[in-house]
Amino acid sequence: MSTPIRADERHDDGPTFAPTAAFVADAVAGEDLHTAATADREAFWADQARSLLDWRTPFTRTLDWSDAPFARWFDDGELNVAENCLDRHVRAGNGDRVAIHFEGAPGDTRRITYAELTAEVHRAANMLTDLGVEQGDRVVVYMPLVPEAVVTMLAVARIGAVHSVVFGGFSAESLRARIEDAGAKLVVTADGGWRRGAVSPLKPAVDEALTGAGTDTVEHVLVVKRGGNDIAWTDRDLWWHDELAKAAPEHEAQAFPAETPLFILYTSGTTGKPKGIVHTSGGYLTQAAYTHRNVFDMHPEKDVYWCTADIGWITGHSYVVYGPLANGVTQVLYEGTPDEPQPGRWWDIVDSYGVTVLYTAPTAVRAAMKAGRQIPEARSLESLRLLGSVGEPINPEAWQWYRQVIGHDRTPIVDTWWQTETGAIMISALPGVTKLKPGAAQTPLPGIVAEIVDEEGHRVDPGESGYLTVTEPWPSMARGIWGDPDRFVETYWDRFPGRYFAGDGARLDGQGDIWVQGRVDDVMNVSGHRLSTAEIESALVGHEGVAEAAVVGAADETTGQAVVAFVILTAEAAEGVDRDAVAKELRDWVGKRIGAIAKPRQVVVVPELPKTRSGKIMRRLLRDAAEGRRIGDTTTLADPTIMATIAELM
Ligand code: WTA
Repeated sequence: MSTPIRADERHDDGPTFAPTAAFVADAVAGEDLHTAATADREAFWADQARSLLDWRTPFTRTLDWSDAPFARWFDDGELNVAENCLDRHVRAGNGDRVAIHFEGAPGDTRRITYAELTAEVHRAANMLTDLGVEQGDRVVVYMPLVPEAVVTMLAVARIGAVHSVVFGGFSAESLRARIEDAGAKLVVTADGGWRRGAVSPLKPAVDEALTGAGTDTVEHVLVVKRGGNDIAWTDRDLWWHDELAKAAPEHEAQAFPAETPLFILYTSGTTGKPKGIVHTSGGYLTQAAYTHRNVFDMHPEKDVYWCTADIGWITGHSYVVYGPLANGVTQVLYEGTPDEPQPGRWWDIVDSYGVTVLYTAPTAVRAAMKAGRQIPEARSLESLRLLGSVGEPINPEAWQWYRQVIGHDRTPIVDTWWQTETGAIMISALPGVTKLKPGAAQTPLPGIVAEIVDEEGHRVDPGESGYLTVTEPWPSMARGIWGDPDRFVETYWDRFPGRYFAGDGARLDGQGDIWVQGRVDDVMNVSGHRLSTAEIESALVGHEGVAEAAVVGAADETTGQAVVAFVILTAEAAEGVDRDAVAKELRDWVGKRIGAIAKPRQVVVVPELPKTRSGKIMRRLLRDAAEGRRIGDTTTLADPTIMATIAELM
């Protein structure tokens, strides 16, 4: 394999896959969606909002864009998000339908029906109220992928409070910074989660975070017992099971205005400080439900859906919690990794629950390719009928493998482009409509208008590359950055006036299909996770032995990109240094400061960084070195010989 990680023009006239007649016959989404959306975009979204959700107070206004780019959708309507995800399915007679097939990493299982999940969320909502959580209060969730995490999110939503889920792999310091920025009143965590046969503790990171500055807004820490590991206890801590047992079982859900904040989710940007992306209720839930239903062709009465994302990411919010539950679908929730205790665990899960629709990331597909096709081939996988991809460009080779080996050469694959900021899928094939092109995200969904533009903001011609922008507001768009409205405008709207600029480059092919090429800013994409070069650099220079650091994302066969760090040590630290020991220490240091996902693949100790005469670091050259390419033009460097030295050190 020649490892083109990026979608690549050589594939423009490669094979395409039209939907089969059988798929089309039973497909949820047809061509009519495009027709309706094109005829009247706002009316189209209003129809979606009315048909997919239950409104306690129907809205009369669809979109208010007068304060652009801060949108208001359906804003005189009222609804309760949790009721839409739970109670209404029970009322419709589907209480016995399984909502969640939970499988823990060690193999423990729980089967939770919509009636049971509803009852659990009622109690949890009362528990939160008993703990003093009120409408608008922020609750930070730092948990393993267990049902209580979903229950917590829905219970918070139910009482009109705001959740902020922090991925369990983030460090105490990252957690602290998010708790502080959000001004959280409550933290919900677990003693620990299971990972590869051992308990990975979570509560100690919360304890450590709460000893840090800016966290005294936190009144309680609610702890789910999951790992059974020993943990320290303070009088601020409460056991989930104790508090839940005290709470009343019935909960009357109140309706909230559509623009009530639902959650804050922190994501990496081009600066060192993560941004708290804010999403609200009615518009977000509309688009989460709409995309989940149409892109994944959901037939709630028969499908078993599985999205492998963690709830710590936007994919987990929209396609584990809100989309599937709003649509009343049965889904799998799995705590562990793809290959524990042995390779093929994921495929065993597909077989044991009869998963019909699987949504995962290219990095997982590439890891499975590497492990070998004999592993999935030893399983049935006959239940699968549709596959999805998200998080980074899927290279055509991985797409083909995914279809042939996992999809037995018959399942459509939807490559879905979107972001934390967009809230829900924006560009994707519709499985019963679109002729699929391996490696391309293809077409904006009905209701979405996206364009690729050049430096000046003019639309590019077919065959050309440029910047991916969205030109019209959409229901699930971010409503801002928590506590920093100016930064929202600067980050996304200033580059091309009147357009949302996502930070991705893309190419328009001869047939008008969009090929997303990846970030054009200082954001890296490692295993589908967004990381900021600035954030990792600032962690590195926070180490006393580091004088300067430059970080790049280098192409990596499995993870898409990998973090490669170049550091200059201080004179004291450099003395008699053991390079390998320093590299290991700095990798661990980054892991401790940000989280294990941010650990550099490689730390290279260098005598100097490639800088222009004005002192700007030329990361492009470092990327050449990290990817083992011939180094580009070095003539503008203050020291043109430095790149040769660095290349030697790789
Ligand atoms: C990248 C994840 C190509 C992109 C949902 C975007 C993709 C960033 C795709 C957002 C895709 C996501 N093809 N690139 N199908 N999906 N990306 O906020 O660079 O974690 O800007 O949201 O992931 O990452 P985020």
